[in-house]
Amino acid sequence: MKKVLITRKFPEQFVAPLQEVAEVVQWHEEHSAMPREQLLQQVADVDAIWGTLEDQIDEELLAHAPKLKMVANLAVGYNNLHIEALRDRGIMATNTPNVLTNATADLAFGLLIATARRLVEGADYLRAGQWQGWSPMQLTGMEVSGATLGIIGMGRIGSAVARRARGFDMQVLYHNRNRKYEDEEMYGFRYRDLDALLQESDFVMVLTPYTAETHHLISARELALMKETAIFINVSRGGTVDEAALYDALKNGDIWAAGLDVFEQEPVPVEHPLLTLPNVVALPHIASASVKARHEMFKTNVEALLTFLDDDKPKNRLT
Ligand code: GLV
Repeated sequence: MKKVLITRKFPEQFVAPLQEVAEVVQWHEEHSAMPREQLLQQVADVDAIWGTLEDQIDEELLAHAPKLKMVANLAVGYNNLHIEALRDRGIMATNTPNVLTNATADLAFGLLIATARRLVEGADYLRAGQWQGWSPMQLTGMEVSGATLGIIGMGRIGSAVARRARGFDMQVLYHNRNRKYEDEEMYGFRYRDLDALLQESDFVMVLTPYTAETHHLISARELALMKETAIFINVSRGGTVDEAALYDALKNGDIWAAGLDVFEQEPVPVEHPLLTLPNVVALPHIASASVKARHEMFKTNVEALLTFLDDDKPKNRLT
């Protein structure tokens, strides 16, 4: 019988089918992952790992896992997997694309509106008893309808956000490694090089995968190109943005506000400078967190693991 290590406590109904055909070892706490030290010990004799974006599947871990043949990652992003090292060792890896596209695009658009219209600030203001009466310019924000949205990273999720933006009569600009001619023709989205996108957009949203090339893609130079009224939204990975430069830009009024679902260090420490700014809406990496999407993500991983356990090739392979 093959052995599967699950680094988290996942809902029982998704783990049960694995237990029927494999030996399953699972971390027991709901709100934490298996500590690294324990993980390094536990992988010694496992054939498969089912983990999350918090588990670094790197050279160090692989050196501890001589029997490993399969990694299922409960995420579409896979910057936590050392793809080359996995490929070199003939280890398969799979992720969870498609099933989280709508949930993530919904959240991205919600975060955009929340940031533009100061929803969190307004709700806090009311609850703190500061609402003394209606006044004409109180808590005024930036208008979403009819504005220009620049999307960096026009994959499945970028395209889904762009289609939502059409309902708000927004102009959509995008920057991507390859042109999306079909989207351009069908929906009127327009391609821009990065600098032009930054200069022209009222909202700049990053949805690109996190790789060596996209590390700090948005730094001081890029922030300086944006409008002073621009709103920056990050739903990719924290590392795509230089957070110190973002803090300076927000503090100095070089851009107007930011909505962030991701941070370089997660969980982001509560004393992080960005969290001291009123013009930052910060969320705890919840873009795909709808019940439907999460259940579909579990199912996608389980299907891949069952296929592997049946000595077959799973879908959604990264390696
Ligand atoms: C979440 O961030 C994911 O990559 O699925």
